[in-house]
Amino acid sequence: MSDPIHQPERSDERAARTERNWAMLSSGIVVVLIAMAAYAGVHQATMPQVSVETADPTRLHISGEFIESNLGTAVQPDRSVMVRAIGQQYSFTPQCILVPADTKVTFRVTSADVVHGFLIDGTTVNTMLIPGYISTIETRFAAPGDRHMPCHEFCGVGHEGMWGKIKVVDKPAFERMAADRRRLDCVE
Ligand code: CUA
Repeated sequence: MSDPIHQPERSDERAARTERNWAMLSSGIVVVLIAMAAYAGVHQATMPQVSVETADPTRLHISGEFIESNLGTAVQPDRSVMVRAIGQQYSFTPQCILVPADTKVTFRVTSADVVHGFLIDGTTVNTMLIPGYISTIETRFAAPGDRHMPCHEFCGVGHEGMWGKIKVVDKPAFERMAADRRRLDCVE
């Protein structure tokens, strides 16, 4: 009788062991990805939308909150500001968004055609604009300055040229500008 310990491994046993190792590796990768998503969610406040709100993309310019006269920055009763904007191939409206520093800013943005990205550099504002849905996101700009707002979802041949700008001005200057205007922007 031969010694069982020194018997060569059978090919089906070897296949089963390889199978098990790969299953463990892929389970491990899934666990790491879940942990990364949980960490990003908690520490960088990248949370999903709290509610689902819809807007018919074919009727944005005709009625509802995204008609042209309603776009831009408006002062709210609590002195925070609300910015309404639209993304479309291949620009944002307004193209230059004016906001005060050191003030709560709420963005309500939607798309008139395809999926676009909405990102403001140097902030945690980073979301998608999905036709049919309203993306709501809050932020606060600590100091005056200009920030870029690139579309970061591929949306067609003109995607690379789809940029907007955020102009943050100090709060007293913003309040002077807001005194006699219902909606503000910095489009020239
Ligand atoms: Cu819009 Cu890319």
